[in-house]
Amino acid sequence: MALGNLSAVVEQAKSGFSERFGGNPEVVAAAPGRVNLIGEHTDYNGGYVFPAAIDRFVVVAGRRTQGPSRLVSLEPSAGEAEPFRAADLYRKEVRGWAAYAAGVAWVLQQEGFEDVPDVEAVVASNVPLGSGVSSSAALELAFGKLYDALGRYQLSNKELALYGQRCENRFVGVNCGIMDQMASAMGVADSAIFLDTVTLDIDPCPLPDGISIVLCDTRKPRQLSASQYNERRSQCEAAAKALGLELLRDATLEMLEGARDALDPVVFRRAWHVVTENARCLEFREALKAGDSDLCGWLLRDSHLTLRDDYEVSCRELNVMSEAANAAPGCIGARMTGAGFGGACVALVRIEALGDFVNKASAEYVKRAGREGAFLVCRAVDGARVVESSL
Ligand code: GLA
Repeated sequence: MALGNLSAVVEQAKSGFSERFGGNPEVVAAAPGRVNLIGEHTDYNGGYVFPAAIDRFVVVAGRRTQGPSRLVSLEPSAGEAEPFRAADLYRKEVRGWAAYAAGVAWVLQQEGFEDVPDVEAVVASNVPLGSGVSSSAALELAFGKLYDALGRYQLSNKELALYGQRCENRFVGVNCGIMDQMASAMGVADSAIFLDTVTLDIDPCPLPDGISIVLCDTRKPRQLSASQYNERRSQCEAAAKALGLELLRDATLEMLEGARDALDPVVFRRAWHVVTENARCLEFREALKAGDSDLCGWLLRDSHLTLRDDYEVSCRELNVMSEAANAAPGCIGARMTGAGFGGACVALVRIEALGDFVNKASAEYVKRAGREGAFLVCRAVDGARVVESSL
């Protein structure tokens, strides 16, 4: 059960804190990773997305300090960050994972919050890394909650999501949309959240009984080459401009067809994915609410195809995994999820067939991809929160 999962990570963070810094943290905050059901590469086009926060968490245990900020990750490959002073961030570069934490402090300062605290903090996590489930957004939100509690700013989770995105865009340098941070901040237990990325309105849709979200990890590390991501983004902007629009969200297929000859063929295909994906996301919400699992399955498979052929962000391992998952027992539908270029597929699977599904899909994946995948059954959970506080 989700809470069991969280409390184990909370305990790791707290005992890591006592070992490293002595005494107790003042605040323990947690933020979940996310999986996107459908609506991929639509967020920076002002479109719709349909993610769920999942029961894999980044937890930070922290305390205010008068000395420089010291951040420690219990992830062996990450380790301890170079100390920094929150007040010096405007002129100091922070490298590696700690940039996602320091960047949030930087954004708070930019927003005019005074006395952004320096912290001693230990991070523990069970969000798989490199699988495309947004460990970085979870890190931003966990630190957002920590700073908010220590500074008594009383920011809403929506505001913290926007600050997390700004941290990523302006401090870390990845030009991402708002989906990941909103999912981690605003997740709702047992629901996927339908999100309009312009208005930031959310419609939480309960996941049907008897269906699980399975993350089918290719174990091919996601190479979110920022340059490929940013290239897709500018191709979308070029398409919107050619259609006389600010955002591709407002394009229809008729408009796009009408402009076919005027558009570069690659730009046309990119826009084709975005416009059809946006429509699929809307249709998926209706199908989910109506309990039409056949239609949900079709929409998921179609999404994979345009991501593969038109948007060109899939890879061999993701294609093999989605085919293996779609062919396995109990699968309603599966597709690549997240930015692409490696990472994972998401599958909706009937609970009674979970064991068979994992056996068949993993055997097929090993046979065809020549490497082991990993399968995580996920529960949808509530978004970022303070778990403990002595303030
Ligand atoms: C990454 C970005 C998101 C979104 C997805 C693709 O996860 O951080 O903003 O663009 O890729 O849907």
